[in-house]
Amino acid sequence: MPSPRKRHAVQLFSGLPSHYDRVGAIMSFGQDPRWRKALVEFISPASGMRILDVATGTGMVAFAHAAGGAEVTGIDQSEAMLAGAKARLERTPELAGRLSFVLGEAEALPFSDAEFDALSFTYLLRYVDDRAATMRELARVVKPGGRVAMVEFGVPSERTLRVLWQIHTRVGLPLMGRAVSREWYDVGRFLGPNIEQFHAAEPDLPALWAAAGIGQARQQNMSFGAGVVVTGVRDGAATE
Ligand SMILES: C[S@@+](CC[C@H](N)C(=O)[O-])C[C@H]1O[C@@H](n2cnc3c(N)ncnc32)[C@H](O)[C@@H]1O
Repeated sequence: MPSPRKRHAVQLFSGLPSHYDRVGAIMSFGQDPRWRKALVEFISPASGMRILDVATGTGMVAFAHAAGGAEVTGIDQSEAMLAGAKARLERTPELAGRLSFVLGEAEALPFSDAEFDALSFTYLLRYVDDRAATMRELARVVKPGGRVAMVEFGVPSERTLRVLWQIHTRVGLPLMGRAVSREWYDVGRFLGPNIEQFHAAEPDLPALWAAAGIGQARQQNMSFGAGVVVTGVRDGAATE
């Protein structure tokens, strides 16, 4: 029986794909593409690499990895979001041979140990019940020495900026969401409190990663802390 958190995550994303890319960027004041770019630069996708993108959604990060020459698998638990990724693939036939999309959960990945050269995930950890176990499962499928990177929303630490961020998330986001659809209004109301609760519950992301077997973990706060990029390397000696 799925937990209330999981049921909410599946329901939340069932109505979003059609506007997801544009509205998602607007909701972060256009900053989110910079955070994704930092993630992709760290992963350094290249021909011959196999990369897993978890919680791939409409596949924005997966496509960026594939454009770099890598072979990419995107996995997500939402059929609706994956339909968005597949529609994008139809519009980008030149990448078709390098991208595949799979329905599945971050908590139980349908892949072998050390199957991938690198792994990325964006906006995932706020939706899982057991973050430590999920991080171990993510680390499991990465080769020793493989790069891992994530993006998440953050909360600015400076007082004035934090107040402005709270106004943006509590008033601005719901208003923007309402202008688009009922589903986006729900997202707009949900995001601010959910981001704050997540960081209060998980104040040390590099420590969470280290405990899961991902070393050299570093957190980079971007856009005054509104975006968080965490990078690290799977423990163990690289095989080549
Ligand atoms: C905010 S969207 C982000 C999508 C994409 N990563 C991006 O940055 O555009 C969050 C995604 O995480 C997916 N998701 C949430 N929990 C998941 C889980 N436990 N396993 C797989 N996917 C999950 C949702 O279905 C949704 O597509």
